[in-house]
Amino acid sequence: MRLENKVAVITGGARGIGYSIAEKFASEGAKVVILDLNQDSIDKAVAKLNKLQEDATGYIADVTNSQQITDIFKQIYKRFKQIDILVNNAGITKDNLMMRMKEEDWDAVINVNLKGTFNCTQKVSRYMMKQKNGVILNIASVIGIMGNAGQANYAASKGGIIALTKSTAKEFASRNIRANAIAPGFIKTEMTDNLSQEVIDKYAEVIPLNRMGTPHDVANLCLFLASEEANYITGQTICVDGGLVM
Ligand SMILES: NC(=O)c1ccc[n+]([C@@H]2O[C@H](COP(=O)([O-])OP(=O)(O)OC[C@H]3O[C@@H](n4cnc5c(N)ncnc54)[C@H](O)[C@@H]3O)[C@@H](O)[C@H]2O)c1
Repeated sequence: MRLENKVAVITGGARGIGYSIAEKFASEGAKVVILDLNQDSIDKAVAKLNKLQEDATGYIADVTNSQQITDIFKQIYKRFKQIDILVNNAGITKDNLMMRMKEEDWDAVINVNLKGTFNCTQKVSRYMMKQKNGVILNIASVIGIMGNAGQANYAASKGGIIALTKSTAKEFASRNIRANAIAPGFIKTEMTDNLSQEVIDKYAEVIPLNRMGTPHDVANLCLFLASEEANYITGQTICVDGGLVM
């Protein structure tokens, strides 16, 4: 068990990549706490996770709401007396070409993806600093490295996450807190389910491994980075993308 007795908080953990990370961590002995927007989907995810590890739990939480996140981390710490791992995974897309992008769509994506990551990092850091121990994993994207037409808001948010990860790593290294970013490529989840087969085939053509990835592929890297095997790795951005970025 690589995460035995660890407490891991995963934002956007009720489905997709976040759920897969929660499942992987629970199967390695971690007590997982998922934060997400909808009680019904949280309950369903927690019920499945509890079959792997009894202490799984979940809270309704909007990562953009600073006060709510402060209160929830307080409750989590009170309950478990430790918070070892934070995975900032909650994310949204609201794609459009720049000329057509509405201000509210710019704001919404920056708020959830970038400000949400900052909020949770800031709130959890006081507990991790007290413990002198912690791991922060930020789910960025290859789009934050490459950019993409029609995704100016998303690319800026994910590029921001990569820079935020480096600042986090530098600011907290002396307290034995590591921070790394994971940049998934094209992963099959509900976020990508609405793409046509034509678009999927077009992407696959430029991916050296010639296929979409799975949430499981991303969760495997997260497990490694959260484990003690990655004790000397901080401030990095690692792609899980079938070779798309190299
Ligand atoms: N799927 C991909 O191809 C891909 C590629 C690169 C990066 N990513 C990133 O991986 C992460 C997960 O993506 P996914 O494909 O699993 O998406 P998804 O839409 O399937 O899941 C996202 C989860 O985040 C939750 N969420 C959204 N806004 C929230 C908020 N304000 N507060 C709390 N929770 C919120 C949603 O309810 C949902 O459960 C995102 O950050 C995404 O940008 C995904």
